[in-house]
Amino acid sequence: MLPYRAIEPLLQQAVSACLPDAETSGVLVRPCADLRFGDYQTAGLISLAKERRLNPREFAAKIAGSLNLPGWVDKLEVAGPGFLNFRLSKSVLEDTLAAAVRGEHLFFEPAREPRTVVIDFSSPNVAKPMHVGHIRSTILGDSLARTARLLGHRVITDNHIGDWGTQFGKLLLGWKEELDRLALRKDPIAEMERIYRKVNAACDADSTVLNRARQELVELQAGGPENLAIWREMLALSQSQFDAIYRRLGVVFDFALGESFYNPRLKSVVQELCSSGLARESEGAIAVFFEDIPELKAHPALIQKSDGAANYTTTDLATLQYRIQTWNPSEIIYVTDGRQQLHFKQLFAIFRKWHPETPLRLTHVWFGSILGEDGKPFKTREGGTIKLADLLDEAEERAFRVVTEKNPGLDENQRREIARIVGIGAIKYADLLPNRQSDYVFSWEKMLALNGNTAPYLLYAYARIRSIFRKRSESADPDERSLAPPPSGYTLSTEEEIALVKHLLNFGLVLESVIEEYRPNYLCNFLYDLAGHFTRFYEKCPVLKADEPQRQTRLAICDLTSRVLKQGLDLLGIETIEHM
Ligand code: ARG
Repeated sequence: MLPYRAIEPLLQQAVSACLPDAETSGVLVRPCADLRFGDYQTAGLISLAKERRLNPREFAAKIAGSLNLPGWVDKLEVAGPGFLNFRLSKSVLEDTLAAAVRGEHLFFEPAREPRTVVIDFSSPNVAKPMHVGHIRSTILGDSLARTARLLGHRVITDNHIGDWGTQFGKLLLGWKEELDRLALRKDPIAEMERIYRKVNAACDADSTVLNRARQELVELQAGGPENLAIWREMLALSQSQFDAIYRRLGVVFDFALGESFYNPRLKSVVQELCSSGLARESEGAIAVFFEDIPELKAHPALIQKSDGAANYTTTDLATLQYRIQTWNPSEIIYVTDGRQQLHFKQLFAIFRKWHPETPLRLTHVWFGSILGEDGKPFKTREGGTIKLADLLDEAEERAFRVVTEKNPGLDENQRREIARIVGIGAIKYADLLPNRQSDYVFSWEKMLALNGNTAPYLLYAYARIRSIFRKRSESADPDERSLAPPPSGYTLSTEEEIALVKHLLNFGLVLESVIEEYRPNYLCNFLYDLAGHFTRFYEKCPVLKADEPQRQTRLAICDLTSRVLKQGLDLLGIETIEHM
């Protein structure tokens, strides 16, 4: 067991001994914000004391006095407003290192209570190109899914593709009257986009066109075979574009149940909400009103338009119901941009009224926009939306230039492969690094820099560690390759080694906070700091040239650092390269 985890139950027992009726599950051990004061500190003691009107510092001192901690805890101290701070002794760090080398853990432990989590992300729309806005949802959602899975949760990823709705009336009309088959073969999405634009403009100018588009939609919804066939073709063409992008990004979905999947369920949702009195008619339409929720009072949610058609909210309600019935999750996470906040607040509020007894956590993980270097929404030079495929191409091309500059001698195929990993990795990392709720400025120079908090920097750090092992295996006889401790055991002898191992130890805590707060940026920063600790260690501590027991200890540290880097990057959806 990881040492900080071993302390938690002891701490909770001490609290129970002092306050027999207290709920102690919130009493935890967390890394100290300022490492000068300790490695870890307690969380939850102060609030417990306050609840009971006890002096938090006195309470902490009392707990400290009755705590029966193992010998490897150094320096237990009451600090600040009533934390308990402590440090880990060198011996427990050495033992933890040994356990990791034996393969018992990689500095994280599976969740004690695995949960079923549905993650709804990416969700692009049919007949439209995936744009940069979808990239954030895809990358963020994928990283959360990977992290939750690694921690042992049951994760179901579902791509809620926009494949139904009023836009298909216009698309169908355009397909029948405007389609250029040749152009469709060349670039299906561009052609579908073109016909949509054309009909859309015509509808604005001429209401008879609008009526014809509506007629097409009605026929599609009624299951007219011609329109259904065209719609299916549009779907297939879009899906193959999406798949190409997902392949490049290494993103896999368990399900891709688009909006159309829920079409047969919409009527009964509206009926149920009406008959239970939650929804009512309003000017020919049907809506849910939120008189009791101040924030939503002025924003009733439409669930059926006056022409009888259901909408995005109705579909999402049917989707929710289906997911509960099918997977019985304890949480559903929706990853979309911040402009959908009102939609999800309404959705969650309706759900709470509709199924008050269902204990389900609903979370909208929203994010800000990607801006161009001029601080305005990221667009092409001509002002068009940037297509995801073009962006990935450019990333690979730019990374290829960087790689070629560094390694002109490498064979071109190898340089291309490195450039692919570096380029895609750079985009993903730049997207995951900022606080997701703030807008960020897209900058090729920044994200491809070899120095700084970037993917290339971390990939380089990883490759550099692996090169130590390549050097070793050139010089060593085969059975010298093990990482097993020397007879005297691993021995940490420098400050840099200790700081690095202590940092490794917190990998699991960081992963937990990534999924608790839906913030992969915590992991980015952890990995960046890890690379920094490693650099300081490597500058100070010779590895291959050291004598035992240092040599074997340092090799173990190097190996584990590289494994944590690789695992961490994998959780961000970033592949690694052995050579750079
Ligand atoms: N297709 C939508 C869009 O592109 C996103 C769907 C998000 N998921 C959901 N269940 N509403 O904006």
